[in-house]
Amino acid sequence: MATLAEVAHALVSDRRGILAADESIGTMSARLEGVGVEPTDENRRAYRELIVTTPDLVDSVSGIILADDTLRQRLSNGRTFPEALADIGILAGIKVDTGAKPLAGASEEKVTEGLDGLRERVAEYVRLGATFAKWRAVLTIGGGRPSERSVRANAHALARYAGLCQEGGLVPIVEPEVLMDGAHSIAQCQQVTRAVLRSLFDELALMKVDLDGIILKPNMVVAGKDCPEQPAVDEVAQTTVDTLRETVPPSVPGIAFLSGGQSPELATRHLGAMQNCGELPWELTYSFGRALVGPALETWWGDEGNWRAAQRALSVRAVANAAAR
Ligand code: 13P
Repeated sequence: MATLAEVAHALVSDRRGILAADESIGTMSARLEGVGVEPTDENRRAYRELIVTTPDLVDSVSGIILADDTLRQRLSNGRTFPEALADIGILAGIKVDTGAKPLAGASEEKVTEGLDGLRERVAEYVRLGATFAKWRAVLTIGGGRPSERSVRANAHALARYAGLCQEGGLVPIVEPEVLMDGAHSIAQCQQVTRAVLRSLFDELALMKVDLDGIILKPNMVVAGKDCPEQPAVDEVAQTTVDTLRETVPPSVPGIAFLSGGQSPELATRHLGAMQNCGELPWELTYSFGRALVGPALETWWGDEGNWRAAQRALSVRAVANAAAR
């Protein structure tokens, strides 16, 4: 059986990245409705089948993060999703948090929940075929946010999640997302991202999490989407890499970015530009959701006749991101 470090390395090596297909039932339903598809269990299942049966996906995707419902569903050929992924050489991951909820006393800020019963759920997910996990914390910029209390509460939860995953045999993807919502500058995003990552690595050390058996999934350092001054691609790349160099220990094997609402093309260009920012101690790759699958979803429209075209749309993004690496 592979060690945690071997799984973590496999997820970020060979110029491949991770595909996030772990939208909650609520989020996935909204995305389906957005393209005119009725948000039924079957349509959510069919859409995930479209993704995992995309030809040659293994050349650019090392792992796919699934949600609890998908992990228990089957493809048309009767295979479970983890079995189908194992058949084609892609690792199965599982989102284990139960969502971001209002933080007590600071209701405009959120803390991610899901620690209760997590040890038992991890054991079950391992039995179902998962090899890695994900937990996402969200932090907002603006109006004095994020507060230190939300930064620390989220870092604490992420570190306890990571410890439980490692104890149970899953590689934790540790995702502290500083959101793009708002009009803040890239400098403000850098300042907040730096503070969030410092707090996170303090907590990971406290909880004795093995850094060579995790993947960090951060936001890129960008300006808020309503900021009138949008930085150039090279500035985003350099500022992101500088921030990570200051905060992420070299023993972390890989950093896999979320796309966070950037257009698919821009997320890919940022990723590509970061590869030219000098020698780095970790692999830099993608763990995109929307920036990988958005075009496929918009092509599919729930119509069987668009199935192949939608898979081609996913392939185009996957191949472009692998090339950017
Ligand atoms: P996006 O790339 O769409 O931001 O999603 C990544 C993800 O997994 C969020 O948790």
